[in-house]
Amino acid sequence: MSKTYNIAVIGGDGTGPEVAREAIKVLEAAAVKHNFKLALTDHDFGGERYLSTGEILPDSASDEMRKYDAILLGAIGHPDVKPGILEKGILLRLRFELDQYINLRPVKLFPGVDTPIKDKGPEEIDYVVVRENTGGLYTGIGGFTMKGTEQEVASQSMVYTHHQVARCLKYAFDYTRRRKKNNTLGLVGKTNVLTYAYDLWERVFNDMGAKDYPEIQRDYYHVDACCMWMVKNPEWFDVLVTGNMFGDIITDLGAMTQGGMGIAAGGNINPNGVSMFEPIGGSAPKYTGQNVINPLAAICAGAMMLDTLGEEAAAKDIETAVADITANKIKSLAAGRMGYSTTEVGDLIASHF
Ligand code: IPM
Ligand code: MG
Repeated sequence: MSKTYNIAVIGGDGTGPEVAREAIKVLEAAAVKHNFKLALTDHDFGGERYLSTGEILPDSASDEMRKYDAILLGAIGHPDVKPGILEKGILLRLRFELDQYINLRPVKLFPGVDTPIKDKGPEEIDYVVVRENTGGLYTGIGGFTMKGTEQEVASQSMVYTHHQVARCLKYAFDYTRRRKKNNTLGLVGKTNVLTYAYDLWERVFNDMGAKDYPEIQRDYYHVDACCMWMVKNPEWFDVLVTGNMFGDIITDLGAMTQGGMGIAAGGNINPNGVSMFEPIGGSAPKYTGQNVINPLAAICAGAMMLDTLGEEAAAKDIETAVADITANKIKSLAAGRMGYSTTEVGDLIASHF
């Protein structure tokens, strides 16, 4: 009997549902070929639901999500809702409550895709960022005193426990071993200024590496220099690992070097629980309903989901299909300039199966 995966789908806001729909189309085609089944359940979390009910995320949401094998997310962010409410109340809350402590973000330039970096191609831009996803500055520890006065003090702390750092680094080392590219893991930090938080990262990195992963080469980059090398010498990188805030920032830079938000996908991963996969780009409200947005990032997020579920061959097939489309069909990754509609891009990829 073929295996059935129970997937929660959160289309979300703006163009989120449109790109999620194309990802599902492709996943369904991959399932037929690779002999597994998908049982999909839609969830209406997002701005519209909040505006009509006043509820951001039901308290039962995380328990409900825990019943699934994985979650596919379109996008969160609504123009009529103050920035931060939905992002914190839905996206970050799910990441935290489901303990998705890894944010896995491949920076991969597909063939035929324009990169703003001169003289670099798919050979040079192909690495993965492992971003710690539940700690650091995102923990929300801090506060105001004397708010609104000239004496106001605002603080927000970068807090890391040994446990959080160690589990993230372990994942990154294991991932580097599995990836089998250059066997190189680079820690991205700021040990010259953040002499507590990144000192902890560096010590655990070196101890764990020397003891358990002697075959993996360890590199270290300050985050500012890393940004420089991501533009100048991206071919140096295999896997990079870093804390939450730095990871957030450098992965937007990475996304631009791989052709932009239309293609950048990520996975919020709990290696022992339920993971959630999403295109990194936002909800692009101005394109909502026009069938012009690029669904490739969502489709790649779907491939990452299959890979994590253990359907590696199906995931590879999707990647191959995406590479064929970027190399031979699609004119640009930009919304409205692809030469195809959102639906047609989904059809093209699905027709590979
Ligand atoms: C991301 C986003 C989120 C983050 C926002 C929307 C809360 O920028 O997924 O990178 O900061 O993690
Ligand atoms: Mg971000």
